[in-house]
Amino acid sequence: MPRFLSAKPDARLIPLPWSTPLAEWPTEYLVALPRGISRHVVRFIRVGEAIYAAKEVIEDLAVHEYRLLHDLKRLGTPSVEPMAVVTGRKAVGGEPLDPVLVTRHLQFSLPYRALFSQGVRGETVERLVDALVVLLARLHLLGFLWGDVSLSNVLFRRDAGSFAAYLVDAETGELHDQLTDGQREHDLQIARTNLFGEFLDLEAGGILDGALDPLTLVASIENRYRELWRELTGVERFSGSELHRIESRVRRLNALGFDVAELDIRTSNEGQTIQIQPKVVDAGHHSRRLLRLTGLDAEENQARRLLNDLDTFRFRTGQQQVDEAIVAHQWLVQVFEPVVTVVPPELRSKRDMAQLFHEVLDYRWYQSQREFREVPIAEAARGYINEVLRNLPDEAISSEFQPIDQSGRQLSNPYDPSAGFADENEQAPYDPWEDGAEPATAAAAPFGGFDIEALRAKARQADPR
Ligand SMILES: Nc1ncnc2c1ncn2[C@@H]1O[C@H](COP(=O)(O)OP(=O)(O)O)[C@@H](O)[C@H]1O
Ligand SMILES: [Mg+2]
Repeated sequence: MPRFLSAKPDARLIPLPWSTPLAEWPTEYLVALPRGISRHVVRFIRVGEAIYAAKEVIEDLAVHEYRLLHDLKRLGTPSVEPMAVVTGRKAVGGEPLDPVLVTRHLQFSLPYRALFSQGVRGETVERLVDALVVLLARLHLLGFLWGDVSLSNVLFRRDAGSFAAYLVDAETGELHDQLTDGQREHDLQIARTNLFGEFLDLEAGGILDGALDPLTLVASIENRYRELWRELTGVERFSGSELHRIESRVRRLNALGFDVAELDIRTSNEGQTIQIQPKVVDAGHHSRRLLRLTGLDAEENQARRLLNDLDTFRFRTGQQQVDEAIVAHQWLVQVFEPVVTVVPPELRSKRDMAQLFHEVLDYRWYQSQREFREVPIAEAARGYINEVLRNLPDEAISSEFQPIDQSGRQLSNPYDPSAGFADENEQAPYDPWEDGAEPATAAAAPFGGFDIEALRAKARQADPR
């Protein structure tokens, strides 16, 4: 009898065919959605209206990852939500099967390969890298040592003109009180190795812009990370006559999307020199403000954009003296809602509503420029829906999702994109973890030799079910 470990049990999971290896599940339970390269068998399963990701993995790792994802959620980190671990599985013949970790499919999320369907522009790569760097710094601030930083272990969501990165694979992670510089360097080293491999793979597939060089890209990740870390945690010293620099630091952090919860300020005895260092910073400065004012839950850059529009509304309606919360309510009812309510239901799975609003604002700006007039928001919304939205692919979970790769080629197994394309001689995408020929380097093997078979054997010994 399978056992379910879950904080939020979903009874609909119980009747699923747990006695069948995940790779052989009948397609009636599965949904074909794009996903990243993985070491384990991963499938998307449909349970009523919900879509879950299921990963077959040995027990210790499944439970470890479940607990870590749970902690990360509790700490407010962008990561996938764990649902359950199904253990005690046995095949019909009685032989034991690996447990399955079930997480909630992250809506509107895209694996990086899906974003690169039309070839990769330099700008897009930079934004993806920025999102990954912000995620890494946020995790490090919380004391989370990832151990397997890579584009495949991240999901991206559109965030206004940028992306927000979510952690999807926490299997190698460890949560500490605080990370040492050495531990952070270790993660950076892994990021370099993995991303270099991923960029080379894109290059080999002819989808990386020729102007982009994998080595330069990888170096830029490191620079960006160090810059961000310095801004988030660095000590700053200045003379007592430059007190404005305290405020400047806070503003710079806000602009990066962080709030300062604790700022350590030390002064020399006579107050001639001042030293400041942020001690506790929380990500989500703009999202929190938007949520407080309007109840809307959005990504950081979307929130920034919506708040700007709210400020413009306040100015245009001459309400600078009116309480912000009151103006926010008017904006919600008079500006935001009329835009999102005109979207026909069948087009709603193409964009989440905050992203859609951001794109309507862009559309209106371009139309206003073209036609030398101020286009009303309702008119822009109609134009955007008909000219842009209708032609976009679905990005939420959707049954209409075509079981083909984003590049338009037929996959050999639509439920397993990592199996490659159906065209003859087509190889599966390069997966560094499956590349047995290369001896594992210390960097690629965060646990000093990450050997699934050995772990599997150990688990069998410990628990001979
Ligand atoms: N909850 C989820 N929502 C959306 N996609 C997911 C989810 N869980 C896994 N995936 C997809 O499956 C891929 C592999 O999952 P991952 O946990 O990294 O497996 P592995 O441990 O084998 O590397 C990810 O790159 C991602 O595209
Ligand atoms: Mg992975």
